[in-house]
This record gives sequence, C-alpha cells and structure tokens, in this order.
Amino acid sequence: MTEHARTAVQAGPTSPSDLVREIYLAGPEGRKGQLTTDLTALEDAARQVLPPEVFGFVAGGSGTGATGRANRDAFDQWRLLPRMLRGCTRRDLTVDLLGQSLPAPVLLAPISAQTSVHSEGEIATVQGAADAGLPFVLSSYSSHSLEEVAAAAGPGPRWFQLYWPSDDELAASLVRRAEASGYTALVLTVDNPSVGYRPADLDHGYLPLVRGTGLANYTSDPVFRAALPPDAGPDAVVRHWAQVNGNPSLVWDRLSRLREWTGLPVVVKGVLRPDDALLAVANGADGVIVSNHGGRQLDGAAASLDCLPAVRAAVGGSVPVLLDSGVRTGTDVAKALALGADAVLLGRPYLYGLTLDGRAGVRHVLRCLLAELDAALTQLGCASARSLGPEILVAAGPLGGPRPTVRQGR
Ligand code: FNR
Repeated sequence: MTEHARTAVQAGPTSPSDLVREIYLAGPEGRKGQLTTDLTALEDAARQVLPPEVFGFVAGGSGTGATGRANRDAFDQWRLLPRMLRGCTRRDLTVDLLGQSLPAPVLLAPISAQTSVHSEGEIATVQGAADAGLPFVLSSYSSHSLEEVAAAAGPGPRWFQLYWPSDDELAASLVRRAEASGYTALVLTVDNPSVGYRPADLDHGYLPLVRGTGLANYTSDPVFRAALPPDAGPDAVVRHWAQVNGNPSLVWDRLSRLREWTGLPVVVKGVLRPDDALLAVANGADGVIVSNHGGRQLDGAAASLDCLPAVRAAVGGSVPVLLDSGVRTGTDVAKALALGADAVLLGRPYLYGLTLDGRAGVRHVLRCLLAELDAALTQLGCASARSLGPEILVAAGPLGGPRPTVRQGR
C-alpha cells in the first residue's frame, strides 16, 4: 500500500462506504484471513467451527423450515428499480426511533445464550454494536447479566428484551433492573407462548438454557434467588427457571402492568397480523416488531416481510414499525424500509460474526450491511433512508406486474 493510501485507510471510518474503499486500497494481501463480505456465506463458515448441536440451535428453524424459506422468498420476490442521475453525493442513513436517533435503521435482534458460540458472548456483541453506534437488544436469556452487558456497552445504545415470566414480581424486577442499567427501550416478545418444535434441537437433545447457559439475568436477580435456598446448585437453578419461565396465559390487557413498572418505551415483538398490531398499540405499546422469530416458532407462519405492509397500514404512519426475520443484506434493509418499516433487526448474521471473530466479527458484519445499504441508496438515487418508498420496488417478472400497495406514510 502507498503512504497516501495508508493515510486514507487510517483516517478511520467516517461513512459506511469507507469499508469498500479500505478493502480495495489494502488489496489482496489485506484480505488474507479476513471474514467474507458476503453476509449470506457466513452461515457456512460458522458451520465449519461450531459443534453440530450448537450450529443446529442457531441456524435451525421449526418444523420443515417453511417459514425460514418464506422469509427469504419474500425479500427475493421484490426487485429494485434504480433511478439514475439524481446527484446522490451524500446519503443520510439516520433514523429517529422512540425519541432516539440511530446512525442507521438497524438494530441487533435479541439472541439467547451467546456464550454458546463465543466465550465473550453478549459482551463482545454489545461492544461490536457500540462500535457501529447501533442498539443491541439484549435477550432475557443472556449468558451475562444485563448489568454486566451495560457496563461493557459504555455509552453504546442498548434495549432489553423481556420474556414475561409467570411470576410478575420477577418480571417487574427484570424490567426495573434494565431501566436502572441504562437500557432505553423494552422489547416484549409475544410469539413464544411455547418453544417452537425444532427438529434439529430435539434430535440433538440440546437446549443451552437447560444446561444453564443463558440464565445470568435470573441467577443475578434478587427475586429469583430469594425463591431458592442459598446453597442451590445448578440443577435447582434450572428447575426453578423452568417453573417460572414461559407464560402462555399472558393476554393483551396485562401490558398495562409494564407501565406501572417502567417509564421506558415498550415495543411488542412477534406480531404478524394487523389486528394484533392494533391490540398492541391499544394496550399501550409504543411500537411493534413484525417478526416470526426467524422461522423458529410456528412452522408455516407467514413471512414477516409479507405481513409488513398491512401492519403499517393498520397502525398508521406515527407508530414505529420494525421488522425482522430474513434480513441478510443492505438491499434487504432498503426493501423493508420501502414497504413501511422504520428500521430492521438483524439476527443470525451478526451471531455468525460473533462466532467467527467476536467483537470484530460483529463489527465487520454491521459495517458490511451498512456499506451495502449506503451503496444501494446511491444506486437507487435516494438521499435518505427515511425517504425510501414503494416506488423503488417492483414484483419479480416483466415490468407492469403488481406493485406494492401504497402504505400510509411512516
Ligand atoms: C432468537 N430470537 C430470539 N428472540 C427473542 O425475542 N428472544 C430471544 O432470546 C431469542 N433467541 C434467539 C436465539 C437464536 C439462536 C436465534 C437465531 C433467534 C429471534 C431473534 O430475535 C430474531 O427474531 C430472528 O433471529 C430474526 O431472524 P433472522 O435475522 O435470524 O433470520
């Protein structure tokens, strides 16, 4: 590399497109031993290094995998219609969400038990997210306590995902701890009244939580601990967790209890139907996440992206609507925004980054995603992520085919 090129590279990341420039300037030598920039290829790389049961847990879905495939098909059925010569020299990726300003419309989805794939688990993830300035949504089922993750995050933005346990005192304790530790939104996951029927995990007889991985928020909780004798061993901990975990009796009007426990904004994750989105909002939710849990819950459930326009139309333009399940590339992010999402959550791809290279791997995945989104905006002739709309989309097939139904603004 020439001195000039080295200076350019060392100037540090100032925009998503810097990644591409850095890579080309560093040349083939610079790529040796680096993770691929093809985020769809990370799954195969992770397969090479993870034990089969752990890979099955992460990559697997429920039943036949139909919903996981549908998630991808839903993205592939839409094609982009780029616009030329629109003078797009600067792109603005920022979005405002729940009173928070994000550098890009991307969050890291809650994923449980992350020390199963990397020894630093959620600590490395929150730091990789902080490097990109993007919020990490910490799962209830994390391998490090929410306080430990908050300390590692520093000023990095973070949200907390709640699986509402059957014991309300424990639920309130988790929520209050999250607020006290600087988490700025609460994500209530509602599509998990029972664990999905996942053949890979069943065939391996493997669930990390049952082995005690992913229970740090419980073992560090005063309410949880108070229900156990002081000398309780790991088996007793798992047994008690299994008793209080899960809450199939939860109904919409219980959401008001969250308001008693916290002033944090509440986002309901896992709705696919417009009527459920309306119920979430009517019962006090500040936003919804259209999600089928990455195809891990009800096999045969509709693709998230297919459900997005109707949910957006139902709740109107002022309620934040996020989407996850199947997002793999920067152009996927553009399609989701064009169909009405304010932002997306990225799931497995960042976990593969964590698997392969810890914090640096998470950072790499996020940088690639944003670099591709930035390039997509330029090529679409769109100066701002916020202004992406259905006019950039067309159904696969000859032009003149169906166009997306126009949503009710954002
Ligand atoms: C998840 N997901 C999840 N969701 C949640 O609300 N709480 C959780 O603890 C978990 N745990 C979890 C573990 C693993 C291994 C995976 C892959 C996923 C679902 C997650 O938040 C998100 O909805 C999906 O991962 C999005 O789909 P993609 O991007 O992985 O296709």
